[in-house]
Amino acid sequence: MGLPDVRGRDLTDHGPLLDGSPKMRAILTIIENIADTDATVLIRGESGVGKDLVARAIHTQSARRHGPFVKVNCAAIPSELLESELFGHEKGAFTGAHRRKPGQFEYAKGGTIYLDEIADLPLALQAKLLHVLQDFRFTRLGGHGEIAVEARVIAATNRDLEHALARGEFRQDLYYRLGSGPRRSRSWWHGSSLASTRSTGGRSSWRRRR
Ligand SMILES: Nc1ncnc2c1ncn2[C@@H]1O[C@H](COP(=O)(O)OP(=O)(O)O)[C@@H](O)[C@H]1O
Ligand SMILES: [Mg+2]
Repeated sequence: MGLPDVRGRDLTDHGPLLDGSPKMRAILTIIENIADTDATVLIRGESGVGKDLVARAIHTQSARRHGPFVKVNCAAIPSELLESELFGHEKGAFTGAHRRKPGQFEYAKGGTIYLDEIADLPLALQAKLLHVLQDFRFTRLGGHGEIAVEARVIAATNRDLEHALARGEFRQDLYYRLGSGPRRSRSWWHGSSLASTRSTGGRSSWRRRR
């Protein structure tokens, strides 16, 4: 049995973003413009269009490039485990919580947390995430003390969020907080809508905290 071709896999997993088309070049310009803000970013597009690569490119072009890049696929983790996965838990928070476990938001400290398939977040967790994006603090399951979010948040979805809104499957307040809907500032991207951002959000609240 041969060894896996790690180099090849690395190239496909985190290869450079190709800029062969005018649309892709427009996206690279957007990435350059937003990378060094701490704004929350929502990346939308069908499967395979390069959302993961864009998220990684934003991270590697930001001042956080030396920090961690933590990806959480919200669709791949059972919903009952997702809250603990994201925010961690204290010992005894629930049956089977034998010890304290930090969440991915903590592991992403100093870097970027990438929440893939955000539309698959259960409604209750959408509410919690909204608070986190507003206050930049959270509490571990079963915990009391608040923990500061010290990560930049990038979210992605391939779902039709407007459709999910209409069906009551996605919270409108989170939708606006992530920068969808009518923009408060200039919109970054029209057409296939790969990336949008709330440029007034994360940065100021982040910087204030330093
Ligand atoms: N602009 C691009 N430049 C280089 N590779 C790309 C580009 N867009 C997509 N890919 C490749 O296509 C595949 C899917 O990209 P990925 O970021 O996982 O898409 P998504 O997250 O939108 O499903 C990856 O192997 C990625 O390397
Ligand atoms: Mg993806």
